[in-house]
Amino acid sequence: MPTDRAFQQCISAQCGATYGVDEVLFACRKCGDLVDVKYDWDALEVPRTLADFEGQWPRRHERLAFSGVWRFHRMLPFAPPERVVTVGEGQTLLQQADRVGRYVDMEAGNLFLQYEGMNPSGSFKDNGMSAAFTHAHTVGAKRAACASTGNTSASLAMYCSVTQLMKAVIFIGTGKISYGKLSQALEYGALTVQIAGDFDDAMARVKEVAEDLGIYLVNSINPFRLEGQKTIMFRVLEALRWETPDWIVVPGGNLGNSSAFGKAFAELYELGLIDHVPRLAVINATGADTLFELYERRGMRWSDGTGDMCIACNYYKELDAANKKAETIASAIEINRPVNLRKCLRALDFCDGVVRQVSDQDILDAKAQVGAGGIGCEPASAASVAGAKLLRKQGVIGADERVVCVLTGHQLKDPTATVAYHTTDQEQFNKVLGSRGVRRASFANRAVAVPNDLSEIIKAIQLYS
Ligand code: F0G
Repeated sequence: MPTDRAFQQCISAQCGATYGVDEVLFACRKCGDLVDVKYDWDALEVPRTLADFEGQWPRRHERLAFSGVWRFHRMLPFAPPERVVTVGEGQTLLQQADRVGRYVDMEAGNLFLQYEGMNPSGSFKDNGMSAAFTHAHTVGAKRAACASTGNTSASLAMYCSVTQLMKAVIFIGTGKISYGKLSQALEYGALTVQIAGDFDDAMARVKEVAEDLGIYLVNSINPFRLEGQKTIMFRVLEALRWETPDWIVVPGGNLGNSSAFGKAFAELYELGLIDHVPRLAVINATGADTLFELYERRGMRWSDGTGDMCIACNYYKELDAANKKAETIASAIEINRPVNLRKCLRALDFCDGVVRQVSDQDILDAKAQVGAGGIGCEPASAASVAGAKLLRKQGVIGADERVVCVLTGHQLKDPTATVAYHTTDQEQFNKVLGSRGVRRASFANRAVAVPNDLSEIIKAIQLYS
């Protein structure tokens, strides 16, 4: 696949500067805006129908066809196949989830969960990391860095240790990362830099360090990350026999996923591979609700790339003046300054999107319902289900519409939140959850304490089962 048919371009309507695909840049050098990976589709071999991708299925013994990202290579043809780095990411499934659907108040058969926890490092990040890592490898990078609330770092550390192609340097905020994720980064051998600050602080620093030391940055500000994350939507369509659902509901943190999904649908539409696009709902946690504030309250819009960025700058100044930091049990989305804000606004514009915020209480209750339905997820992921429930209640989503909630990460990523929710120990509950404004564990499944005595054990089982 010739790489000169792919290039990078500034997303600003006034600028639009272009760069070669082999350049390493995470902001436009002329105006500082975000950049996209773009393709000259006319010069490329594009699928005639989405069902063409089914041709990959019988070839699953081949490296690219096996990957849930790279079997869609023709939709992200920025690197030649022989340079692609894959560890078999993206083997994820769309699950029809009627039990969770009842909780959300959907008609049977209409709620689906796209479970990205099945990725090799346990979150959706592997989709994007495979693509960014491929680009890093193509340009000869030897070290890669990211700031992270945990999953990006786990994913980067995993790709580095499995492939031995690069060394990982990760930046995390102090006390802001769950044990499941931290343990991955440490065990996979990443150089772990713990900053006295939160994710937003770490993100600002990693950009400076990457620039100063020439380290390849793999946060979702990297446009190649988003190319990989587009494939989550390709797999959703694939599972729905190439039919477009009515809604995609996704948690919003740094806004990489929502941006990538919008780009995926825009490209499929441009190529005539779909004839309509789903609506997009991006869900913030109440304590980290920048997108909700800017989009729903202050009316910030994409406006063909000319939207007023001052709305965001002013809001950030207010946050600083009030010394307001992001604060949510959903630590993965505990972010106040989302780097992909402008791309997300573009996606919301293209997909007729809405933004909502949900409380930590709603997130944990939704998470317990997802778990009771048999698929564990981490708190941030459950924001999508809590958001869908809210949108149903508000009448924005209809009970007969087809809704896909993206479950971004595995349940075992954050056992502390789960155990505290189900615990009988009030002190533990208060310490972990009460301090976040969570008042009750509405769907707790509590362990039953019994003496070490056979008849007492049997009595307890008969009483509770
Ligand atoms: N869900 C999970 C489980 C995440 O780890 C993240 C982001 C998000 C949702 C938000 O996705 O940034 O695309 O809007 N985690 C990043 C990290 C920030 O460092 O692992 P987004």
